[in-house]
Order: sequence, then structure tokens, then C-alpha cells
Amino acid sequence: MKSIGVFDSGVGGLTVVKELIRQLPNENIVYFGDTARVPYGIKSKETVIRFSIENILFLLGHDVKLICVACNTVSSFALPVIKNHFRVPIVGVLNPGVREAVYATQNKRIGVIGTKGTIKSRAYELEIKHLDPKVKVTAVACPLFVPFVEEGWLSGDVVMKVANHYLKPLKDAGVDTLILGCTHYPVLKSVIREVMGNGVTLIDSAKQVAIEVKKILSQEGALNKGKKGKLDFFVSDNPEWFSELAERFLGKIVKNAKKVNSV
Ligand code: DGL
Repeated sequence: MKSIGVFDSGVGGLTVVKELIRQLPNENIVYFGDTARVPYGIKSKETVIRFSIENILFLLGHDVKLICVACNTVSSFALPVIKNHFRVPIVGVLNPGVREAVYATQNKRIGVIGTKGTIKSRAYELEIKHLDPKVKVTAVACPLFVPFVEEGWLSGDVVMKVANHYLKPLKDAGVDTLILGCTHYPVLKSVIREVMGNGVTLIDSAKQVAIEVKKILSQEGALNKGKKGKLDFFVSDNPEWFSELAERFLGKIVKNAKKVNSV
């Protein structure tokens, strides 16, 4: 039974795995977290492309039928380039989230938050404009959100202060839809919701990407039926750290993370 391959710069891509398990419980999933080289969000485009190709080659060694790029920085910087190199279907987190946001907005003002790399790439903005040129996009990098999530700072004064600071331009722009354009941000959803208010639709790319994966596999007649799928986790460094953090993103404990020696 072939698997779905998923990779991310580290542990954050488990938010996507959580949705894949929820929507596709019969699929085997092979996850690779590049914990030796995280974070990708501050690296150059060339480096992110090189790392991504290496990660895909690793997953291809595990009999995968589709690869899901769970990292928003990779999806923004590298996806158009890497897609041309491989025959296996590769799904990123950018397009499914953008489609949902363009569909959801009423006032045609969409906000995007992500890592510095994602925002600098302007990939979200360009894709939104491609789908609807009338939409006004406000994009803001929120680099401190990633360490907050990894340190377990999910509420409290400091987090609220930083969130208010980062999200102010989006509130000022009057966005009615906000794309959470980073693997880690769904974990901070309640803080983001409190700052932005209930009137703003928060788009969680993880949900949309799982819908997209299901659609592609079903079109290709490649969905697994029958027994519950199994999960394999590989990391390029520090499986203990990965396992410790995994519960926060996946909602369950990961015991079987294995370190691989090279990617
Ligand atoms: N996975 C990255 C993303 O979604 C966040 C962490 C990093 O910077 O590597 O953009």
C-alpha cells in the first residue's frame, strides 16, 4: 500500500498531518521533518529549493504516491520550481488556502501572515491577484509566532502584545479574511481570533490542503480503502525534541520518530 509523503522544515507540518489523518484515516503517511536545518523561514530561495529537492528525494525512497509540502515557506519559494523536476503529484499549502480565502472574502480585503521568507516571496499576494485582481492584499511577517508556539507560549500578556503589534496593519486595512500562512499559526488561532475579532474569517491551510490531497487521490483512483493507515515519522536531527513538540501540533504523542543520517 503506497503512502502519502509529507515534509516540512520541522515539526509544524504535523498540523497538516492532523488534518490528513482526520480526512483520510485509511492512508499511510510518511512524514519527514528537517529538524537539522529548521527554520526555513529566514533562508534564501536557493537554499529552500535545494533542501526541498533533497527532502523529496528522501520521501521518494519510501514508495509515496503523492507528496504534500506542508511548509508554507517551501510552498511559496520553491514549489513552482520543484514541481517541474518530479513526476509524482506534489501539493503545496498555498493554492488551497488562497482559493478558500478568495471564496470567503466579502469586502475583497484579504490579509496574509507568514514567515519572513513567505511574505518576501509575495507568492500569496500574486496568487490571490491571479484569481481575483480586485482583491486588496495586506501581507505581514510574524517571525516571533514560530518560537512562541515551539516554546508553548500560546496565551498571556507577552503573546497578546506581540500579536496586537503584528496584526495591527491587518486590522487597519479592514481585512475580513486572514490566511494563516505558516504551519505554526493554527496553534495560535485563539490569540489571533481574539485580536482580529469574530468578524474575520481565519483560513487554516491545513484543512484545505487535506481536501486537495483527497481530491487528487480520488481522481487518480489511488485512495486506500480498508484498514486504518499507519504513520511513520523521520527527522534529520533530534527525534526527542520532535516527539516532545509533536503533541502540540498533532494532538497525540509521537513515539516512533526516527533520525535519518542524510537527506
Ligand atoms: N514551516 C515553516 C512555514 O510554514 C515555519 C517554520 C520555519 O521557518 O521553518 O513557513
